[in-house]
Amino acid sequence: MFVCCCIGVTDRTIREAIAAGAQTTEAVSACTKAGTRCGSCRPEIEEMLAEARQLARTHACPEQACPEQLADDESDGPLAPSPRRLPILAA
Ligand code: FES
Repeated sequence: MFVCCCIGVTDRTIREAIAAGAQTTEAVSACTKAGTRCGSCRPEIEEMLAEARQLARTHACPEQACPEQLADDESDGPLAPSPRRLPILAA
């Protein structure tokens, strides 16, 4: 499904950029060019980022990390690259 019709960027491409570490709309735009023309797709990109953050929280397994590590993870931000926290996002 196209998220950015101006540039022709799909939800899959945006999810791949997020999974690769893009944490902001600006970062997704820099990677994919989505949102760089009219900007009407930017709210949807922001929603996809929020969903990814929620999935990362849901799939984080607190039993595999000590409390100090979890505190460190939170200080890096909600989408800090970590194999344990990055879900596989299939289109
Ligand atoms: S729809 Fe994405 S920039 Fe216009």
